[in-house]
Amino acid sequence: MAGIEVARIKADFPILGRTVRDNKPLIYLDSGATSQKPVEVLDAERAFYETSNAAAHRGAHQLAEEATGAYESARARVGEFVGAASENIVFTKNATESLNLAAYAFSNSTALARWGTRVDPRFQLKPGDSVLVTQMEHHANLIPWQEVCAKTGATLRWIPLTDDGRLEMSALEELIDSSTKVVSVVHQSNILGTINPVAEIMARAHAVGAVGVVDACQSIPHMPVDVRALGADLVAWSGHKMLGPTGIGVLYGTGEILNAMPPFLTGGSMIATVEMEGSTYAPPPQKFEAGVSMVAQAVGLAAAVDYLEALGMQQVAAHEHALTEYALLLLGHLPGVKIIGPGQAEDRGSAISFVVEGIHPHDVGQILDNMGIAVRVGHHCAWPTCRRFAVPATTRISPYIYNDLSDIDAVVEGICEAQRFFKVAS
Ligand code: ALA
Repeated sequence: MAGIEVARIKADFPILGRTVRDNKPLIYLDSGATSQKPVEVLDAERAFYETSNAAAHRGAHQLAEEATGAYESARARVGEFVGAASENIVFTKNATESLNLAAYAFSNSTALARWGTRVDPRFQLKPGDSVLVTQMEHHANLIPWQEVCAKTGATLRWIPLTDDGRLEMSALEELIDSSTKVVSVVHQSNILGTINPVAEIMARAHAVGAVGVVDACQSIPHMPVDVRALGADLVAWSGHKMLGPTGIGVLYGTGEILNAMPPFLTGGSMIATVEMEGSTYAPPPQKFEAGVSMVAQAVGLAAAVDYLEALGMQQVAAHEHALTEYALLLLGHLPGVKIIGPGQAEDRGSAISFVVEGIHPHDVGQILDNMGIAVRVGHHCAWPTCRRFAVPATTRISPYIYNDLSDIDAVVEGICEAQRFFKVAS
């Protein structure tokens, strides 16, 4: 396929050279859960530990200076990748923490205001206010908001889904109104693959003065994303789904919103002054980064950004689009197979969920695993989405830069094998 040379890329990923299940070559199709890491990322982390390991933003020795430099350069590099300045990039443990940081700004502000602390009124919630999400959220962008509502008396609303797995945009008229204080939506669904018109939704949120949040976990690794173009106040994503290490996530925020938000985790490094009676906080992003920073992970993430940029995010997106078109075509024509999510590749990412008539998704996954093919099975942390489509679970393939058409062929072969094994008519 033009642009991305899969054989060359695969050689950069040591794990893809291993075999599984009685010496079968590994076909890794679970990048929606976590991506594999190229040697450049592994080397960058190792080099940091071997040469400059120290706690960043603490200490006056040379190693501490180098660690601080490495951490801040990584922040700048990650910001650049998504069109943001360094000061707008907060490093967190993972995307779930990023989204909780956003959600806690509301419950914490509401609690603080109750005891007389001055907080930005946009973050105070009360009964009658509403929070809007979608019916295709990952639990990480659903449960934190359910908690916020439980703590403040606000009401959770959600944008329903059409039968082909898209947002029912006509419902927005009624769902976004003067009661709406937060709109938090997923950019690209981890279970359906749907790419949502987030810029349009954010514009509607802002028209009523609501804070706009985007979960970009499944989009930033797979397509060019300029966070400013999304129009959101806050954008969350993780490092490990974009070739980077686990243990690092990102929260982009506009300067205005990060200044207005209260901190989430508190402790060392996030303060300006501390007295026994109370403390003041450092400006963002430090205000949101309590504790010793994950420098090696940040360095690894910057190396992942270098790797993706060398490929070109347009090329990455085009490669995945071609894989998606091919997979949808093949799976769409396979008797007994139903795709859960959009059947067309337009405005759709490469994560494809499906069910096979008469066979439990876990059993499909097991047969594929026996053939060396790693896929995810289950509700994909999007249980309400499964309920919407009346399926207990799905089998999901989520290809990336190191997959090619032959991997999709292998999945089709595996499904046919499952149908033969379970004697399901196909
Ligand atoms: N959110 C990850 C997935 O979709 C774990 O698999």
